Amino acid sequence: MTRLDINGKAVNLEVPAETPLLWVLRDELGLTGTKFGCGMALCGACTVHLDGTPTRACVTPISAAQGKRVTTIEAIGATPIGKRVEEAWRGLNVPQCGYCQSGQIMQAAGLLARTPQPTDRDIDEAMAGNICRCGTYQRIRAAIKAAAGGA
Ligand code: FES
Ligand code: FES
Repeated sequence: MTRLDINGKAVNLEVPAETPLLWVLRDELGLTGTKFGCGMALCGACTVHLDGTPTRACVTPISAAQGKRVTTIEAIGATPIGKRVEEAWRGLNVPQCGYCQSGQIMQAAGLLARTPQPTDRDIDEAMAGNICRCGTYQRIRAAIKAAAGGA
């Protein structure tokens, strides 16, 4: 059995330890805000936080998440930074189709936790692995700056 801390709740799972965290979130726990894009750590759609660090859930076995705090898009708004990021995203109407956006928000919240006033370069580096097929990159950047209090 694997015991995980998901969004502050203890969850016991009877699935193999190598099961990707993304499958458990979506299929076992119904937390479908975290998306499947590539399954190979190439797009960022599946980004969650492990102990506050943005992590690709599609390539993270649940064994690696054991003993860590897993935070998903469903709960990031309960943190002060996550709340600011979500408000900025709403204020600037960032999403287009929306598919990539939970991953974008999780990555952005991780950036602002580490770097409260990021430069354009900081943003580019932190967000480079989060792909948006709709090309919302300009609004993402503006929203990160707004959430940082710089816009
Ligand atoms: S689905 Fe995990 S990085 Fe693309
Ligand atoms: S908003 Fe459509 S993929 Fe990013």
